[in-house]
Amino acid sequence: MLVTRRLPGDAVARLGRAARVRVWSAQTPPPDKELRAAVREADGLLCLLTDRIDARLLEGAPGLRVVSQMATGVDNIDLDAATRLGIPVGHTPGILTDTTADLAFALICAVLRRLTEAERLLRAGEWRTWSPDLLLGRDIHGATLGIVGMGAIGQAVARRARGFDMEILYTSRTDKRIPGARRVALDDLLRAADVVSVHCALTPETRGLIGSRELALMRPTAYLVNTARGGIVDEDALARALRTGDIAGAGLDVFAAEPLPPSSPLLDLANVTLLPHIGSASVRTRERMAELAAGNLLAGLRGDRLPYCANPAVYPDVP
Ligand code: DGY
Repeated sequence: MLVTRRLPGDAVARLGRAARVRVWSAQTPPPDKELRAAVREADGLLCLLTDRIDARLLEGAPGLRVVSQMATGVDNIDLDAATRLGIPVGHTPGILTDTTADLAFALICAVLRRLTEAERLLRAGEWRTWSPDLLLGRDIHGATLGIVGMGAIGQAVARRARGFDMEILYTSRTDKRIPGARRVALDDLLRAADVVSVHCALTPETRGLIGSRELALMRPTAYLVNTARGGIVDEDALARALRTGDIAGAGLDVFAAEPLPPSSPLLDLANVTLLPHIGSASVRTRERMAELAAGNLLAGLRGDRLPYCANPAVYPDVP
């Protein structure tokens, strides 16, 4: 089996007790060609969201029996191709919900209260005195939060927002009821929210969901936070909206291309807080993600149903 990076905790040791494991031990992902060559020889693949698992790679690996991703999102994997080839794909939903919601809420606080701007000013030696108008932000309590996508993470963010006495609006594909929150259409949410937080999955339907038209609906005093996937927001349109003051600011943990290219216009803007995709990055959660991914991989290699399967249609008893 192939594991495409060193993992936290003892997940790799556990795999090693069951079979021969090859670990890609560099700090960066295996380049496409190396990944293809290594997967060609593998019966199981434990991969990360930084690995592109496309139809060509899967078709070129006749012995591959299971793919297990150490992440909830699987937009880097061609699930249709995997299903067609009879390969179950595992993922790690649930365990990172609260950790990611913590980070989303931290970003909401950071952008509304301008924390990263404030820290930069202090470190630059520009803090001269307490001043009545220094770095005035927006109150978090009492603000209206718009949650785009009310899945597990969206709901966990809503729970945190209730503790801050925020008014909560949300969009959802299904008509689930959330206590203390109101389901509205996306346009209405964008018009009303002081801060919009994105929590839907990246799918063909949500790619570019927040573009120029949507940003133009937001208030000039409003903020956008994205801890889901970069592709959901049109980054060029966002950079323009931030530059022209169409919206007040943004907090981003995810980007269309990761790592964020040095040429990104976002890097020149002071009113955006940029984080390197650390939503689930707590010691405990990352160890549990690795553990779950190892469990999925071992189940697939034994021929058992994966405990957490992203393409259940691979099993013949699923309609
Ligand atoms: C996921 O699991 O999809 C997250 O983005 C990883 O932090």
